[in-house]
Amino acid sequence: MITVRFLTSGRQAEASGAISLLRLSIREAGGIPFKCAGGVCGTCRCRIEEGRDHLDPVTPRERRHLGEAELAEGWRMACQAIVTGDVAVSWPPA
Ligand code: FES
Repeated sequence: MITVRFLTSGRQAEASGAISLLRLSIREAGGIPFKCAGGVCGTCRCRIEEGRDHLDPVTPRERRHLGEAELAEGWRMACQAIVTGDVAVSWPPA
């Protein structure tokens, strides 16, 4: 079982296997902001605070929106990031 803690909203969700971070957020009302859900708009920027090794590799669409420094700090795009283990995530409040 995978546990995702949505630090900005204070919610928590579980998934039985690997899943898109945004998909889980939408399903469980985690609260990560989004618009396109397709890697275009950049709205779903979020920071992995714990468990950075528990995501699939950064995608080309993420690299278009995030610089190397941001990636090194743990920033990802929730609609492109696949979670494979426990993580804690935050994002800028609206
Ligand atoms: S929601 Fe638009 S890039 Fe993720």
